[in-house]
Amino acid sequence: MNRFSRIAFLLAAGCLLSAGCGKTPNASYRLNMVEATKQRLTTEQEQQVATVLLAMFGTPDDPVALPEFGLDEAKLRLASGPVRSDIVGRKNGLYREHCAHCHGVTGDGMGPTAAFLNPYPRDYRPGVFKFKSTERADKPTHADLLRILRNGIAGTSMPSFALLSEPQIDALAEYVKYLSIRGETELSLMRAFFELDDDAQGKLPETREFLVDEMAGPIAEKWKSAAAAQIAVPDMPADIDLVASIAKGRELFYGDKANCVKCHGVTGLGDGQANDYDDWNKAIVEINKEIKGGLAKAGETSTSGMSAEDAAEHRKQVAWLGKFSHVVDGDALTPRTIPPRNLRLGVYRGGRRPLDLYYRIHAGINGAPMPAAKGTVPPEDIWHIVNYIRSLPYEFDGELGADRPMVARDRF
Ligand code: HEC
Ligand code: HEC
Repeated sequence: MNRFSRIAFLLAAGCLLSAGCGKTPNASYRLNMVEATKQRLTTEQEQQVATVLLAMFGTPDDPVALPEFGLDEAKLRLASGPVRSDIVGRKNGLYREHCAHCHGVTGDGMGPTAAFLNPYPRDYRPGVFKFKSTERADKPTHADLLRILRNGIAGTSMPSFALLSEPQIDALAEYVKYLSIRGETELSLMRAFFELDDDAQGKLPETREFLVDEMAGPIAEKWKSAAAAQIAVPDMPADIDLVASIAKGRELFYGDKANCVKCHGVTGLGDGQANDYDDWNKAIVEINKEIKGGLAKAGETSTSGMSAEDAAEHRKQVAWLGKFSHVVDGDALTPRTIPPRNLRLGVYRGGRRPLDLYYRIHAGINGAPMPAAKGTVPPEDIWHIVNYIRSLPYEFDGELGADRPMVARDRF
């Protein structure tokens, strides 16, 4: 890219930013310090990421959406900013009013209420969503987000917003996409420093080609193509014999192909393997291990036999581990495990329609240990598992013995 277009891009971004600033109280996005520290970014590099994000996405009070992102700025305006009414009396600032205390102004899942909740509110920044109609690795469709907002997530603190109007819910779904694209772009930028060659002198190129076409564009593209990634669901056979289907589903559940029993347990109470984490929590567990392991190793290492250069390198590493440990303590929630669901409760986070259960079993739960049955169980057979799962809350299983509760409503 030549110098002219680079300057033009930054100037254009600067104008967008200055347009609406000024009157509203300042709310700001938090930088992803855990990732910045992990990537060992310098203060100047952190500053560059913040400046670039500001140019491309604006502020919580003045969001910017480049045309490449495919987002509707009018909807973003309705959802963003402080809670207020506009000239025609329409409520603005919906995200701050309804979502930020859990999901955080930045969408990092660390609002003031977050630490008290289990599961934690979603951190949108990795761009991973659990309950959707698309293949495992794909983004949710707009309709998936609307459904989550209307219904909430049963069995968690994510409330239903069914009392908001259609345009309000629509604007909030758009804003979730915006925060997610922003957060995922931030991750890409922070990871890009690592690949710079020496001429770059530790600075990312500030060209439209790099920032939009290489960094943010592909992320936005995945959101645009979500609708095409919907799971193809075969019809449940119209003449299905429900008793036989449940028996077949039960066989699959305990069989070694689907192996649902491994995690959900012989009882279906979710008491199989229950010490795993979802991806958000696992990342923190792994970081803590890296820090603890590193510090322990450093404690055992003596610098006395080292060359001056190696000793300096060693001290740098120890200082970094100390800083990282401090950042993680201040910027991440204490990890919590994600137990497999108790299937006898009849409470399903991703929705209780047979179709929702089909999606969950076909694709698994993205970001969670729950695997996809796709590829191991033929599509029509997934319906048998769905029927079995739906029968579980009502099943009296004498085989389990007197020490097992018949309907375990007391276990979560
Ligand atoms: C009281 C806390 C709370 C509030 C308020 C809240 N959420 Fe959530 N939200 C959660 C929790 C907890 C989860 C994670 C549930 C899980 O992982 O099973 C979640 C998950 C989500 C998800 C992810 C769904 C998925 O498929 O992974 C979206 C999107 C979402 N919330 C959007 C919103 C929006 C938009 C608002 C405001 C209109 C909002 N939430 C308000 C607690 C909250
Ligand atoms: C490796 C462990 C593991 C295996 C194997 C597994 N699950 Fe799960 N399952 C989980 C976990 C963990 C959750 C909760 C994930 C979450 O909420 O993020 C879950 C959640 C569920 C849910 C709840 C969905 C909802 O909307 O709340 C259903 C239904 C389910 N599993 C069915 C099955 C079936 C059927 C199989 C076999 C085809 C299976 N699971 C295999 C770990 C597993």
